[in-house]
Amino acid sequence: MQAWLCENPTGVEALQWKDLPTPEPKAGEVRIAIRAASLNFPDLLIVQNKYQMKPPLPFVPGSEYAGTVEAVGEGVKHLKAGDAVAAFGGTGGFGTHAVVNAGLVVPLPKGFAFDDASAFILTYATTHHALVDRAALKAGETMLVLGAAGGVGTAAIQIGKVLGARVIAAASSDEKCDFCKSLGADATINYTAGNIRDELKKLTDGKGPDVVYDPVGGDLAEPVFRSIAWRGRYLVVGFAQGSIPALPLNLALLKGAAIVGVFWGDFARREPKANAANLAELARWYAEGKIKPAIDQKLPMRELPAAYARMDSRKVLGKLVMVNP
Ligand SMILES: NC(=O)c1ccc[n+]([C@@H]2O[C@H](COP(=O)([O-])OP(=O)(O)OC[C@H]3O[C@@H](n4cnc5c(N)ncnc54)[C@H](OP(=O)(O)O)[C@@H]3O)[C@@H](O)[C@H]2O)c1
Repeated sequence: MQAWLCENPTGVEALQWKDLPTPEPKAGEVRIAIRAASLNFPDLLIVQNKYQMKPPLPFVPGSEYAGTVEAVGEGVKHLKAGDAVAAFGGTGGFGTHAVVNAGLVVPLPKGFAFDDASAFILTYATTHHALVDRAALKAGETMLVLGAAGGVGTAAIQIGKVLGARVIAAASSDEKCDFCKSLGADATINYTAGNIRDELKKLTDGKGPDVVYDPVGGDLAEPVFRSIAWRGRYLVVGFAQGSIPALPLNLALLKGAAIVGVFWGDFARREPKANAANLAELARWYAEGKIKPAIDQKLPMRELPAAYARMDSRKVLGKLVMVNP
C-alpha cells in the first residue's frame, strides 16, 4: 500500500508519499481499499500538531474516507469483504488502504457514491446533531450560517432548508455568497464587505436570527451574538478563524438566549444509538435527493499537498475529495 506519512507534525511540507507494508486487520478491525477521502478542517490542524487529538507518530492523516472492505478481523459481525463502506477513523484516509476499528465503519446504502460518502459523515452528522438535537431548529425560524461555503457550512444550508428554516448564509466573498445561493440559501451576507449587524437587521426586520451556526469564531462572534433574536440559540461549532471568542454574558440574559456547544465526536461516542438514528435519517435524505455534499474538486490522492494549500487559502467551495484510481 501507499500513503501520505506524517513522521514529523510540522506542517503539510513534511508529509511524504511512501510505500508501506499492507497491514492485516486484528480482532475487531477491517481493512478498507480506499476509493475516496475528503479533507476536513481538523486534517489541516493535525499535521501541524495543532489539533486536540495528537496521534502517536508516525501516522497517516485523513479522518474520513470511503471504499470497499478487503479483509475482516476476528469478531467483526456487521461487515464482510466486498462491502461498500464509509469510515470516520480520525486518521488513515490519505492512502490506498487503511485498517480501522470496525465500530467506526458503516455500510453504505445502495446508490451512495464513494465521493459523496467520503465527504458526508463529519459535516452532515455534526450539523444534524447541531440543528436538531442542540438548537431544536423549527420550520419558519431564521438561521444564520457563518463560514457558509465551507464543509459544515454547506451542510448547514442544506439541512436548514430540509427542516423548513429560512437560511441566511454568510461568507467572505461574493463568489462564496453566490455559491451558497446555488445550494438553497434564501439570503446572503458578505462579511468582508459590510457591517454584519446592519445586514442582519435589514434581512430580519430588526428581529435577528433565531439560530446562529458558527464554525468560524474569532471577531464575528460578538457582533453576531448581539444581533440574535429573543430566545435565540447560538451554536458553538468551531473556530476556523483561529481565535476563541469570549462573549459578555449579559447579552445572553438580555436576549433570553442560549449559547449551545456542539461536539459531534463525543456525542457519537456517548450516545451511539441517537447518532445512528441521525445517520439513518441523513442517508434517507441523501437517497431522496434532499442533501448532497457540494464537491469543490476531486484530486488524485498523490496531489494531497495541492488540496491542503487550497483549503488553507480559504478558496474551497464545499468539500475537497482525494480519489484513488
Ligand atoms: N464541533 C464539532 O463537532 C465539529 C465538527 C466538524 C467540524 N468542526 C469545526 O468546524 C470548523 C469548520 O470546519 P470545516 O471542515 O467546515 O472547514 P472548512 O471547510 O475549511 O470551512 C471553514 C470556513 O471558515 C471560514 N474561515 C474563516 N477564517 C478562516 C481561516 N483563518 N482559515 C480558514 N477558514 C476560515 C472560511 O469561510 P470564509 O472564507 O467564508 O470566512 C471557511 O470556508 C472547524 O473549526 C472544525 O474543527 C467542529
